[in-house]
Amino acid sequence: MSKLVIEGSRTLRGELTLHGAKNSALPLLAASLLGDSPVVLTRCPPLSDVAASVSILRHLGCEVVTEGDCVEVRQGASCRSDIPEAQMREMRSSIVFLGAILARAGEAHLCFPGGCELGPRPIDLHLAALCQMGVTVREDGGTVHCRAPHGLHGATVTLSFPSVGATENVLLAAVLAQGETVLCNAAREPEIVDLCRFLNTCGARITGGGEGVIRIQGVRRLIGCRYEVMPDRIEAATYLAAAAVTGGELLLRGAQPLHLSAVLSVLEEAGCALLAKSDTVHLKAPQRLGRIRTVRTMPYPGFPTDAQAPIMAMAAVADGTSVFIENIFDSRYKHVGELRRMGACIKTEGRVAVVEGVKRLSGAKVSCTDLRGGAALVVAALAAEGRTEIDRLCHLDRGYAALEQGLCSLGACVVRQR
Ligand code: UD1
Repeated sequence: MSKLVIEGSRTLRGELTLHGAKNSALPLLAASLLGDSPVVLTRCPPLSDVAASVSILRHLGCEVVTEGDCVEVRQGASCRSDIPEAQMREMRSSIVFLGAILARAGEAHLCFPGGCELGPRPIDLHLAALCQMGVTVREDGGTVHCRAPHGLHGATVTLSFPSVGATENVLLAAVLAQGETVLCNAAREPEIVDLCRFLNTCGARITGGGEGVIRIQGVRRLIGCRYEVMPDRIEAATYLAAAAVTGGELLLRGAQPLHLSAVLSVLEEAGCALLAKSDTVHLKAPQRLGRIRTVRTMPYPGFPTDAQAPIMAMAAVADGTSVFIENIFDSRYKHVGELRRMGACIKTEGRVAVVEGVKRLSGAKVSCTDLRGGAALVVAALAAEGRTEIDRLCHLDRGYAALEQGLCSLGACVVRQR
């Protein structure tokens, strides 16, 4: 099994350019199904989740050519309506294909994404919204069968929680539906704005992306386009935490500071000096970080759940007690046990984690429990004294492109052993 071997306690210094955002690239790839001429996505990050989306598109009948960070999708004449169970299970975000397949094929047969390393991942909000748009849903032996016998039509849909996935599925189903859809309590994440911008570039008529109410006027067809995926704000948060934890200095290029404001204010609270310009963020960390009082994960523009674990690793060596409250997922503290093996002092109860900063962490053999939990271990290992070996890298490879190259370019000592 391959592993990352990290020799810690080296100060990170230098500059990095961000990759495209995984959480945007995946819905954009699903949305590419909807056009009737080729779509070219640039700055598409080379990740295993992107490769999984490409396999799904090929299964659905598309021709997909990948070259570097550029992915070209040529839609097939017809679109299949199923995704094989293995592909659904490989990537939980595959549920974002539901709205797109329904719009293209008029029906979709997908197995439930089921639970994952973050706890149960229900899709009730997605299904309830689609039902309001003319979809009938039947569940049978772990598979959900969705049909729109009379086509999809617009509706006023109110989400009881601003779910990112449900917002994406409603957008994908609504762009080619008959009439207007008004989506209330929509997710406001920057990745939603990116999806709306992409769809509008393809000819959709969407207003309000990034706001609580999104209006989608259905159109008859979408055309292809060339589109650059937005930069990855979670990759940015991870590198900033990595530089901060080593007392380092980092210039991130391609960053959108506005997307990072909740994370930047936490870094500032910990004592980092930050300078944000239109598309760069510069961080200079103190010798010893200060505590962060309380981090509450919330829907955007609140603190992102995806940055909770890497920032917790940073708090683990800060001076004082920091508190985390995870409000999005039930089971997002799996990395805590691994951080403890490295000497961190963290107690959890339900949604709360209390982190007593320690003077130093020490290298250990640890395992990635999930994607962002893996990133937390990398951050901790960079700060730790001695050598850390991190295995189960499949999790990290889902979401971080060329991680060890990026860190090594900043002066870290990180080697992947196969
Ligand atoms: C979530 C994050 C997103 C992140 C992604 C990957 C939020 C609001 N969303 O998106 O920023 O990039 O994980 O880590 O931070 N839920 C239901 N029923 C549903 C759908 C969701 O109960 O039909 C619940 C989930 O159990 C969870 C919460 O809503 O507690 C967040 O769900 P959602 O935003 O849909 O999750 P993702 O789309 O995976």
